[in-house]
Amino acid sequence: MIPFIDLKAQQKQIRSKIDNRIKKVLDHGQYILGPEVKELENKLAKFTGSKHVLCCSSGTDALLLALLGLKLQPGEGVIVPSFTFASSAEVMPLLGAIPIFIDVEADTFNLDPAKLEDTLQTGNQLGINVKGIMSVGLFGQPANMKPIKDFAAKNSLWVLDDAAQSFGGKYNNQTVGNLCEVTATSFFPAKPLGCYGDGGAIFTNNKEIYEIANSSHVHGMGNNRYEYDRIGMNARISTIQAAILLEKLEIFPDEINKRQKIADSYNQHLSKLNLNLKLPYLEKKFQSSWAQYTIILPSEVKRELLQENLKLRNIPTAVYYPIPLNEHKPYKHYPVSKAGLKVTYELSKNVLSLPMHPYLEEKDIVYITENIGEAIKSIS
Ligand SMILES: Cc1ncc(COP(=O)(O)O)c(C=O)c1O
Repeated sequence: MIPFIDLKAQQKQIRSKIDNRIKKVLDHGQYILGPEVKELENKLAKFTGSKHVLCCSSGTDALLLALLGLKLQPGEGVIVPSFTFASSAEVMPLLGAIPIFIDVEADTFNLDPAKLEDTLQTGNQLGINVKGIMSVGLFGQPANMKPIKDFAAKNSLWVLDDAAQSFGGKYNNQTVGNLCEVTATSFFPAKPLGCYGDGGAIFTNNKEIYEIANSSHVHGMGNNRYEYDRIGMNARISTIQAAILLEKLEIFPDEINKRQKIADSYNQHLSKLNLNLKLPYLEKKFQSSWAQYTIILPSEVKRELLQENLKLRNIPTAVYYPIPLNEHKPYKHYPVSKAGLKVTYELSKNVLSLPMHPYLEEKDIVYITENIGEAIKSIS
């Protein structure tokens, strides 16, 4: 089977460096908030240009810490795309707040800025005090931040960017992590920058947001170890994961370039098939970190049959996401934009993600794309 994501190939490049880093942690023994955590935060600040970086226990906790930093209160609303992973929305109800679902664009898979006005009105008409917008950089492509920020500024809303998948990407040459009030990312192993366990981080230029999140991630700690300023969590990153990330960050820019080349090659081979597949679309102002390479199948192609057929050819595929978030039981009662979620419903039926990682070889891409062509013909 061709690996969907090949973490072993990556590890091979840097195994001895990672071993050394882990050995250092074992030698100094500061497993919690050891020096590698600060070193990583400093390097990530440099990488993104963001003033404050706080590493934490996961991408989901990063979103939660960001919302705490933004002082989101019970009953307040946040606009969030319906075509995303559960974490983007689940952190709001955890704080007693209300996700208001907005549709995405078919071309980019990301929040559709043209639907913001209707979505805000939906919240207002329900009497919800809408406080912010959560943009999501799905599959690696950063959210279309300019119109989102313009709308937010006009309506006194904040923007929190869920960059779990788009970390390493750029928008108008600016690195993700420094595009809006707060950014959250995930270091889950399969993410573009992943560790060997769970991890995440938030990025902000706002000192107060950072300070609240920093305190919240250690039980709401005040100036002293056993003095508490607020209700908090235990959401620290482990020192060993920070040590691993320090080595992975070194090769990260090169890996993003490799992913771009792979995406280009996929585009080239798949467009030659003339099968009416919709390939990922990237305007010049976007640079994707290619967390996923996702195509849209023509509606007449039966996705499950195609997946089964490709599996027989040793090609794994995945569907992110088969059910719109608002359709899941815990989210069904939350409001949906009056502009509707047409694109989300279409995408959830027709998207298909193909193997993607920086070490995918050209011969594999040729094999995968030729077999997609043959498989589609054989099932139609
Ligand atoms: C869009 C998005 N947001 C948030 C998360 C949460 O990250 P984590 O798994 O590190 O909690 C993920 C992880 O899959 C994600 O894809």
